[in-house]
Amino acid sequence: MIVNNAEIALTAVAPSGFPKDGKPEVAFVGKSNVGKSSLINTVLGRKRLARTSKSPGKTRTINFFSVDDILYFVDLPGYGYAKVSKSESAKWGDMVEGYLQNRSQLKMIFLLLDIRHEPGSNDIMLYEWFLHYNLPFTLVATKTDKVSRNQIPKHLGVLRRSLGADHPPVPFSSLAKQGKSELWRIILDKCEISVL
Ligand code: GTP
Ligand code: MG
Repeated sequence: MIVNNAEIALTAVAPSGFPKDGKPEVAFVGKSNVGKSSLINTVLGRKRLARTSKSPGKTRTINFFSVDDILYFVDLPGYGYAKVSKSESAKWGDMVEGYLQNRSQLKMIFLLLDIRHEPGSNDIMLYEWFLHYNLPFTLVATKTDKVSRNQIPKHLGVLRRSLGADHPPVPFSSLAKQGKSELWRIILDKCEISVL
């Protein structure tokens, strides 16, 4: 997939700052440091469009990236960042849930999980929340380059079973560029776009 134009369109902390043009959106959510911003860069074929960092808590606002003027990739702040105060994590909840709920143009939510770790309580809560509200979501296992190739299926199975999911997560690595075409297939299908 060749993306001709990808740029930051809007940065928001509340619904008043979300795009109003109704174009389809796909969002990336998950624990801090799981690799959301890196995945966005990799899928869009850009090096530093979404800002990434070794230390968790880099993305603090809801960032909308316009992709070829057809759809938006939405980078969300991560949760579970230990240094964040209670009031800040409540703010996270309000901000992110305020976006994920009642957003009719949101066609797919990618819930990112680190392939090496069992889902945490926040991951499980979000997963169950998606089921409860019948939101469209896909599980993605990130950083597959961190485990040996032949161990990947085992790790995917652990993640699937620990959530009681119907399908295993899509394996993905920004470093090894694994999983890019599978994510594009899902994005184009859900946004009803034939080609960019
Ligand atoms: P927050 O914005 O803090 O919520 O984090 P994030 O989920 O956006 O994570 P980010 O993309 O900033 O990546 C966090 C760290 O993980 C960075 O040091 C990345 O280089 C690293 N990382 C991301 N994806 C991969 C991957 O596929 N493989 C490896 N080995 N490292 C990765
Ligand atoms: Mg980020």
